[in-house]
Amino acid sequence: MTFTAFLLDQSEDAVHGAITELDDSRLPDGNVTLRVQYSSLNYKDGMILKGIGRLVRNYPHIPGVDMAGVVETSTDARYSPGDRVLLTGWRVGESWWGGFSSRACVKADWLVEVPPELTTKQAMAVGTAGFTAMQALVALEAHGLVAGDPLLVTGASGGVGSSAILFAGLAGHHVVASTGRMENSAELEGLGAAEVIDRAELSQKPTRPLLSERWAGCIDAVGGDTLAHVLTEMQSRGSVAACGLVGGNGLETTVIPFLLRGVNLLGIDSVMASAAERAAVWGRIAAVLDPEKLEALTTEVPLADVAGYADLILAGKTKGRIVVNCAT
Ligand SMILES: NC(=O)c1ccc[n+]([C@@H]2O[C@H](COP(=O)([O-])OP(=O)(O)OC[C@H]3O[C@@H](n4cnc5c(N)ncnc54)[C@H](OP(=O)(O)O)[C@@H]3O)[C@@H](O)[C@H]2O)c1
Repeated sequence: MTFTAFLLDQSEDAVHGAITELDDSRLPDGNVTLRVQYSSLNYKDGMILKGIGRLVRNYPHIPGVDMAGVVETSTDARYSPGDRVLLTGWRVGESWWGGFSSRACVKADWLVEVPPELTTKQAMAVGTAGFTAMQALVALEAHGLVAGDPLLVTGASGGVGSSAILFAGLAGHHVVASTGRMENSAELEGLGAAEVIDRAELSQKPTRPLLSERWAGCIDAVGGDTLAHVLTEMQSRGSVAACGLVGGNGLETTVIPFLLRGVNLLGIDSVMASAAERAAVWGRIAAVLDPEKLEALTTEVPLADVAGYADLILAGKTKGRIVVNCAT
């Protein structure tokens, strides 16, 4: 049998990809084979599709850090043909062939059953970005964030940001969305933002170690000077969940917010989350999800279009979540 994939190859220093028909014998040696129905496009996929950051070491390679579909064969007792499963993280799509493919072979330990409340498409509309947003929200709540507190979300129009607005809004938090595209304000309010601010307010290096207290919590997809700035504006005992680096991977700050306001800087890693954490986070997502709002932040694209969308996501020009239909 054969399957269809977006296969990435390298020549000299450039990577290039194309839709390719491959024989099943090329699949990696996992213990569960899936018919992949949907994947999604995350910022990291954009980097991989453009060969940025040396995330992939072996070519040819099938990218796609997310996948959801139906089990075809399994030698693991936990899974049987017909089961609906999803996979995010574990460096799949980086060091293992990923979800931009109509078939995948993976390790059973990496799989999560798709919650019964969700379709496989909805699971990928959430995907790594939405999973990360919910991980961040859970971490902030565990550190004292309660409904009604001002919660800042940076990178608001993107995958992590828009998912964070959706989940935090549904949980009753007072969400303040920071965006470089104020023209998206109505959509961000529709998802659950109570206020929208221009990201220029937060993007400069802070001029003092402490500024006026504004935020009880922050879900930050931007990093760099924005994260440094936000730390100086945190309320006493407030927490920042650091998720991303689209504004830079450096962090020039002082220890003053930690010492004088007891601010917490919480690291969020979705890739190596434990099976127990995954089950808890997906359970919370399924419990709160509003299908209409999820649909509003989702764009579906065919597999053949992922390369074009990679340019857009790296340029900060996509909105919400991009679901990849692996059957087209
Ligand atoms: N820790 C983890 O496990 C984990 C998981 C998933 C993602 N991430 C990281 O989280 C970040 C966001 O991922 P994503 O999938 O949400 O990406 P995305 O869809 O591209 O969203 C990023 C958003 O940030 C804003 N932005 C873009 N460039 C910016 C800049 N130079 N300065 C300030 N804001 C900028 C844009 O929103 P506006 O136009 O509204 O400002 C953009 O839509 C990435 O760094 C990704 O690697 C980490």
